[in-house]
Amino acid sequence: MSLANKNILLGVSGGIAAYKSAELVRELVRAHAKVRVVMTHSAKKFVTPLTFQALSDNSVLSDEFEQAEATNGMDHIALARWADVVLIAPASANTIAKLTHGGADDLLSTTCLVTHAPIALAPAMNQAMWSNSATQDNVETLQKRGFLFFGPASGQQACGDIGEGRMFEPHQLLLSLSNLFNTGELTDVNVMVTAGPTQEPIDPVRYISNRSSGRMGFAIAEAAYDAGANVHLISGPVALAKPQGVEYASVKTAQDMFDAVQANIKIQQIFISCAAVADYRPVAKQPNKIKKLHDDLSVTLVRNPDIITEVAKQSNKPFVVGFAAETQELEKFALHKLERKRLDMIAGNDVSENEIGFDNEENALEVYWPGGHCSLERDTKTKIARRLISLIAQRYANTHKRSNVTILKNAKDRSQNTR
Ligand SMILES: Cc1cc2nc3c(=O)[nH]c(=O)nc-3n(C[C@H](O)[C@H](O)[C@H](O)COP(=O)(O)O)c2cc1C
Repeated sequence: MSLANKNILLGVSGGIAAYKSAELVRELVRAHAKVRVVMTHSAKKFVTPLTFQALSDNSVLSDEFEQAEATNGMDHIALARWADVVLIAPASANTIAKLTHGGADDLLSTTCLVTHAPIALAPAMNQAMWSNSATQDNVETLQKRGFLFFGPASGQQACGDIGEGRMFEPHQLLLSLSNLFNTGELTDVNVMVTAGPTQEPIDPVRYISNRSSGRMGFAIAEAAYDAGANVHLISGPVALAKPQGVEYASVKTAQDMFDAVQANIKIQQIFISCAAVADYRPVAKQPNKIKKLHDDLSVTLVRNPDIITEVAKQSNKPFVVGFAAETQELEKFALHKLERKRLDMIAGNDVSENEIGFDNEENALEVYWPGGHCSLERDTKTKIARRLISLIAQRYANTHKRSNVTILKNAKDRSQNTR
């Protein structure tokens, strides 16, 4: 599973094992995760914030009052929303106790009270501290509340004791973290995703395009991969790194995208059309750069192939999910598109508000399917993508079960007819 582009909030509390967390940050950055480090005051006695700052390429946070200004408003609320997961490594006995009792006297504990992201703890302490019934009771309480525990391991300890309480090694923590994102909801399902804008050339240097950054489609491809799918991502021109583990094709025009989709659609079980495909293209690309000779200039446009309609028309069509970016009457237009194009699901996003949707880190979606609706409220595109993939997986499983029933019923009818 991939940690690329996942927002990891690493909490470091005061224990000897804090030095290992420096290596963990290095590993996370190598895995293309985005890392922000929050240190407790005690942690700073063991390792300097500068070490984590250099490794994570982000300023290290500790005290919300001192640092509110220095961090461009990245306070506990913003941090809590930003995080896809909070990992506290090492988690000291004191921090575990504080979390159990809802303490909020520093940035780390306050953020933990606010976040909806999963919180994982990697305990590290002397074996007697770990086995103390106070600590064990705290661990049990936190587990009941849904906190995750990575470790501890057993072995030789820094103090010379042998027993349980060693922090998991960085590579074990990395594996545990990446397993968190593996939902398994689409294991071995073939999923094709289109993303980004298309570019329709006017002449050798000019083109018609739109503001799509491709981030939503890429986030969907990553979320589908995390859910266990075999992902084929086809994208128009974007400034994004190819997601790990997916088959990737880069295209320019709507026609290129149409051809790339058609070449591989037969084996897909789910098709998610997130690309902002140009509806029209100039009737012909001028062979040379158009000169500024006249006061006005007309470019005649012709319709591009409608990629999603062609996919949804196929006799053995996959589960088809469309997107509708609208600036008005979102529900009406989205439902109309769902019905007209015979889609299985449509995700409508209101792009009239400048701050979300196109070319932005955040999005909010209204998702419709025949007879159902769900709002995915404003969040980072990564989180919205994961919720959307989960919804698609549920709807796909439902329709798939139904079609299996139909296939079985037809098979039974046929066998009865031949008797
Ligand atoms: C040298 C030294 C090593 C320590 N190692 C640990 C440790 O490994 N685990 C632990 O839970 N506490 C350890 N402590 C105690 C914590 O640092 C102490 O409980 C502190 O208050 C924790 O604060 P924090 O949870 O806010 O980071 C150690 C203390 C010292 C002085």
